[in-house]
Amino acid sequence: MTCASPPPTLALVTGASRGIGAATARALCAAGTHVLATDIDLQGLEETAAAVRAAGGTIDTCRMDVCDTGSVDQSVSAAARTYGRGFDVLVNNAGYATVATLDEITDEHWAHTVNLNLMSMMRVARAVVPGMRERGGGHIICLGSIAGYTSGWPGRLAYSSAKAGVAGFVKSLAMELAPQAIRVNGVAPAGLHASADQVPLGRVGTPDDIGAFIGLLTSPHAAFMTGQMISVDGGMSVAL
Ligand SMILES: NC(=O)c1ccc[n+]([C@@H]2O[C@H](COP(=O)([O-])OP(=O)(O)OC[C@H]3O[C@@H](n4cnc5c(N)ncnc54)[C@H](O)[C@@H]3O)[C@@H](O)[C@H]2O)c1
Repeated sequence: MTCASPPPTLALVTGASRGIGAATARALCAAGTHVLATDIDLQGLEETAAAVRAAGGTIDTCRMDVCDTGSVDQSVSAAARTYGRGFDVLVNNAGYATVATLDEITDEHWAHTVNLNLMSMMRVARAVVPGMRERGGGHIICLGSIAGYTSGWPGRLAYSSAKAGVAGFVKSLAMELAPQAIRVNGVAPAGLHASADQVPLGRVGTPDDIGAFIGLLTSPHAAFMTGQMISVDGGMSVAL
């Protein structure tokens, strides 16, 4: 008797040219998932892809600007034509902290930061979910932060507000999509840019710590979990 091997899980990772996005792509590919790695930094994407292929994984790359609806919709449509199917996993990772105090902040700074760190997550999910529905389910993982979720961060008003919004987005989208077997969870990292003595576990975290956890979330062992924000921070968010 021959047994056809199951099709690989197909994942879209945003902001995959470096940092947590690149580490997530590596972790997913190491577990046998085929990843479409996207970013606006094409050179970084090629470095991510080279590392995955050197380790025996399979990956494609695509320029996709999460701040631009046209770019997102075109990239996801092109992927549907290439793969002939929708994605099983979306990792909404692209984002970064911008710096401005209340005295310095402009409307443009606020709008850009919220667009990049929050509205982008809706934009990419909106493009990907129809394909997940056709597949009969899926999993969306959004990168939040302990800033705005459990903690405040002076000078990062727009970023903290956007990341607090990610927690609300995760919970409400989880409830909206649960009947279609699409799970939505969030990961709130910290401790990657701290000094070791600030982290209860006594060491600085790495992008691979976060990527490995996201890989775990996509495994069948997390199949009954949705609507949760999980801090992965060496204990920083619960330290006195
Ligand atoms: N590293 C941390 O300590 C930490 C802590 C809390 C939250 N996070 C969150 O985790 C995620 C990844 O963080 P990181 O430290 O790896 O960030 P990073 O700055 O190292 O990487 C961000 C990635 O997003 C990409 N990007 C930026 N603008 C984009 C756009 N418009 N379209 C597509 N891609 C774009 C960049 O090119 C880069 O590859 C972010 O959402 C961040 O807010 C990180």
